[in-house]
Amino acid sequence: MNVSVVGAGTMGRGIGQVFAQAGHDVILIDINRNVLSSAESNIKESLSRLNRKGLLKESIESIIGRIKYSSSLEDIKNSKIIIEAVFEKIEIKKETLEIISKHADPQAIIGTNTSSISINTLSQYVNGKERFLGTHFFNPVPVMKLVEIITSERTDGKVVETIEKVMIEIGKDPVFSKDFPGFVSNRILMPLIREAILTFEQGVASAADIDKTFRLGMNHPMGPLELADFVGLDVCYDVLEVLYRDYGDPRFKPPITLKNMVTAGKLGRKSSEGFYTYR
Ligand code: 3HC
Repeated sequence: MNVSVVGAGTMGRGIGQVFAQAGHDVILIDINRNVLSSAESNIKESLSRLNRKGLLKESIESIIGRIKYSSSLEDIKNSKIIIEAVFEKIEIKKETLEIISKHADPQAIIGTNTSSISINTLSQYVNGKERFLGTHFFNPVPVMKLVEIITSERTDGKVVETIEKVMIEIGKDPVFSKDFPGFVSNRILMPLIREAILTFEQGVASAADIDKTFRLGMNHPMGPLELADFVGLDVCYDVLEVLYRDYGDPRFKPPITLKNMVTAGKLGRKSSEGFYTYR
């Protein structure tokens, strides 16, 4: 099947990679050519890691050979599945979904990879609401088995069935969520991260000890502050803001420390500085 992934950032490149690994022809699209070339080298690196552990069914070259890189959204026209994975900003998603609607095959299924933006809201920008749904992947996409499938009030049941099958076929294990802010994953994860930041802010324990509590006490692979750095502190802040606004519940209120760090450009791993430094 021909699949397009629009947006070649951390999530988009991972999504493109897993489709290609499962034998699909992938077009990875981004308007920024630098992002495309970094996606290309990152995918090669990720495939090499998987290959070293004998997890690939075929050669790296044949998987890479199925991925085309493009900066033109018109190239989605032959795809049966289109996954939008651009920045987590509603205006950017709106603009992208409107262009996708213009060029997409009328039968194509359109999924959006979003952490917290409402699927019903985004469906307004898609021509054919019944073929649109949320496909929320987890970072690092080639490693994490989960995908959250989120439907709008108008998503067709057959589209959900097809996407469920496709997700299983590419090696994911889906869960289903209604379109409530944060769905299941971030509705529960973000208050944990928030509480860890408040615990740190109040000087209850060091960042290292807060994380160690979760790694050794609860067997989490990463503690909540390490995970916040890994996800991106800006992403955590944006998701908490959406949750706080939409539920109106103070348990989602973004901590002041988080706001200060984000506005100072401390975004976690991607900026080499967050609760920890990465150099
Ligand atoms: N591609 C391929 N393989 C990768 C990879 C990648 N991008 N990243 C890691 N790996 C593999 C490694 O090869 C290794 O495999 P092995 O265990 O079989 O040897 C394994 O993953 C572990 O890698 P590392 O040794 O380099 O590092 P860690 O042991 O610290 O694991 C981790 C890294 C997989 C990221 C692990 O720490 C982890 O699972 N952390 C939690 C991640 C998580 O919770 N993600 C979800 C975030 S929430 C989200 O994305 C939603 C959004 O809306 C906010």
